[in-house]
Amino acid sequence: MLSSTRELLETASRNSYAIGAFNVYNLEGVKAVVGAAEANQSPAMLQIHPSALEFGGVGLIALCLEAARAAKVPIAVHLDHSTKAEDIQVALEAGMTSVMADGSHLPYEQNLAFTKAMTELAHRKGAIVEAEIGRISGTEDGLTVAEKEAKMTDPDQAVEFVSATKVDALAVTIGNVHGEYKSEPRLDFDRLAKIRKLVHVPLVLHGASGLPAEAIDRSIQLGVCKFNVNTEVRQAYMHSLQQGICSRSLKDLVDSMGAAIAAMQAVITEKLELFGSVHKA
Ligand code: G3H
Ligand code: 13P
Ligand code: ZN
Ligand code: NA
Repeated sequence: MLSSTRELLETASRNSYAIGAFNVYNLEGVKAVVGAAEANQSPAMLQIHPSALEFGGVGLIALCLEAARAAKVPIAVHLDHSTKAEDIQVALEAGMTSVMADGSHLPYEQNLAFTKAMTELAHRKGAIVEAEIGRISGTEDGLTVAEKEAKMTDPDQAVEFVSATKVDALAVTIGNVHGEYKSEPRLDFDRLAKIRKLVHVPLVLHGASGLPAEAIDRSIQLGVCKFNVNTEVRQAYMHSLQQGICSRSLKDLVDSMGAAIAAMQAVITEKLELFGSVHKA
């Protein structure tokens, strides 16, 4: 069933587990997420990146909402990393249950103003907003320690930001990166603990592909209740297609779609287990 993002995050937070939010691009991705969630009696989130929205348009939103409504477990539908008010408007009009208003590339004051305006808009539609301060990058290679720390979420600024914007969830930057980790991920748990102590909205960790089980556990203990996963699921899809094509084992397009769904579903299942959301639906 289609669930509100607020309900999913608040229930997870109260019960010390986290919701997996998986980026989807097409029908196979949607089927993999909903299939894995149903098979594991787990709640989950379908999330659409603006680049996927540009490609799939409102049809992709409709596909996600329809799959969520038909699902046997609670599924929320979220717009990821949106920097444009127009995209957020389209998402809210279509009935998505939450959006990420991503002003993390803007100077702090502008991020605050953008997030505040988008939060007011979303609340009028009964949806919620996730925002980010600090800046999650791709790989951190070549950065000095000072440069890395400058990009991390400042706990005191986080309190002020949440209270000024009334935002509902906060994505933190504590050493997490999008894509692959080029070396062993090192998350700043002291920083996360400080943020948790001061900020009382659900915390979100992007860049969950590549995080080991211990880092995920510790993050959940320190208040993270949503993890974003994109890269590992996409890779599973691509590898499945490449293998099928190279081995000439695929007879038809539908075979390749089925194999890709199964490959993605296996990765998603692993993540749901790590996030502790299995049997929580
Ligand atoms: O925030 C997520 C974007 O979709 C980037 O994902 O790291 O898999 O390219 P990626
Ligand atoms: P990964 O690239 O680590 O999967 O992170 C995805 C993400 O944060 C999407 O918003
Ligand atoms: Zn992200
Ligand atoms: Na990552």
